[in-house]
Amino acid sequence: DREIGVAVLGLGNVGSEVVRILNEHAADFEARVGAPVVLRGIAVRSVDRDRGVPAELLTTDAQALVDRDDVDIVVEVIGGIEPVRTLILSALNSGKSVVTANKALLADYTGELADAAKLADVDLYFEAAVAGAIPVVRPLMQSLAGDRVNRVVGIVNGTTNFILSAMEETGADYADTLAEAGRLGYAEADPTADVEGYDAAAKAAILASLAFHTRVTAADVYREGISKITAEDLASAKAVDCTVKLLAICERVVGADGEERVSARVYPALLPHSHPLATVNGAFNAVVVEAEAAGRLMFYGQGAGGAPTASAVLGDLVSAARNRVHGGKGPDESTYAKLPIAPMGET
Ligand code: HSE
Repeated sequence: DREIGVAVLGLGNVGSEVVRILNEHAADFEARVGAPVVLRGIAVRSVDRDRGVPAELLTTDAQALVDRDDVDIVVEVIGGIEPVRTLILSALNSGKSVVTANKALLADYTGELADAAKLADVDLYFEAAVAGAIPVVRPLMQSLAGDRVNRVVGIVNGTTNFILSAMEETGADYADTLAEAGRLGYAEADPTADVEGYDAAAKAAILASLAFHTRVTAADVYREGISKITAEDLASAKAVDCTVKLLAICERVVGADGEERVSARVYPALLPHSHPLATVNGAFNAVVVEAEAAGRLMFYGQGAGGAPTASAVLGDLVSAARNRVHGGKGPDESTYAKLPIAPMGET
C-alpha cells in the first residue's frame, strides 16, 4: 500500500518540532491523509551531536535525500537562499511537492519556484513563511480568491513588537529593551534582520504578491526599522493616546497618472490605541485584510517559535500529502496580474 515519504531539511527550532509532532501524532496524520506519512530522513549540517532523533534518519547530504525515490514531499526549514533554492528547485523539477517556511527565499523567488511547481504539476506550500502559526497565506490564496483585496496591514515581526510593547510599558530605552529581548530569546545574536525591518519587508513582499497577484520582491518594499525609536517617542505617542507599531502595509494605490499600482512599505507607525492592531502586544503578530466583499478581517496569534511555526508547516504537509494520495493540486501562484509597483516615495 501507498506511503507518503517525507524528507525534512533542517533540524533547528522549527524542524525539531515538525519531527516531534509528526512522530507523536503519526496515527492522526495517517487518518487525515489516507496513507501513512513516513519520515525518510532529515538533512542536518552535522551528525556528530545527539539530536534526540534516531541517528539513522540524519544525513548531511541534503541533495541525496531530496533525490531519493521514496521521498514524495520535501519540507524545507533551513532558511536562507542557497543551497536551499537549488534543493527546492531540484525537488520540484523531479516531481516532488515542497513545503517551506522560508520567507527570505519566497520574498525574492516566489515566481521562479511557482513556475517550477506549475511545470512539474506539484504543490508548493508556504503558510509558515509569513506570521508563523497564523493562517494568512491560505486565506489570501484560497478563502479570498473570489474577492478583491484592497489592503493588508500587519504586525509581522514578533521581536520588534516585543521591543516596542516593552518600551511603551516600562519607559525603558531601545538599547536596554533590545538586550532584554536577547536575554529572553526573542532577538537573535545579530538582530539586524528584525530591528531594521528586513524580516518584515520579506513578509510584506510575500503578502503583497499574494494579495494583488503581482510579483513583489523585498527590494520593492520601502523599509524603515525601529532602531531609532526612543523612549521619548513612545511617551509622546502615549500622551496623545497612540502607540508605535512596526507595520507592514500593502495596498492598491492610484498613481498620479490614474493607474492602479501596488505599494508595500514597512515602517514604525503611530497608531491610535483604538485601532485593533494597537492591542497586539508582546511577541504576537496580527494581520488585517480589507477586501471589497468580505470587509475587514483580522488574523492574530503566534508569529514565531518552533511549535507555532511547525503547526503551519504540518498543515501544509497534510494538504500536500492528501493531494498525492487522492489526486488534486494546491493553488497555483504562477499566474499574476502584473500590476505595476508604486515607486518608493510616491505613497
Ligand atoms: N524573527 C522573526 C520574528 C521570526 O521575530 O518575528 C519569525 O519569522
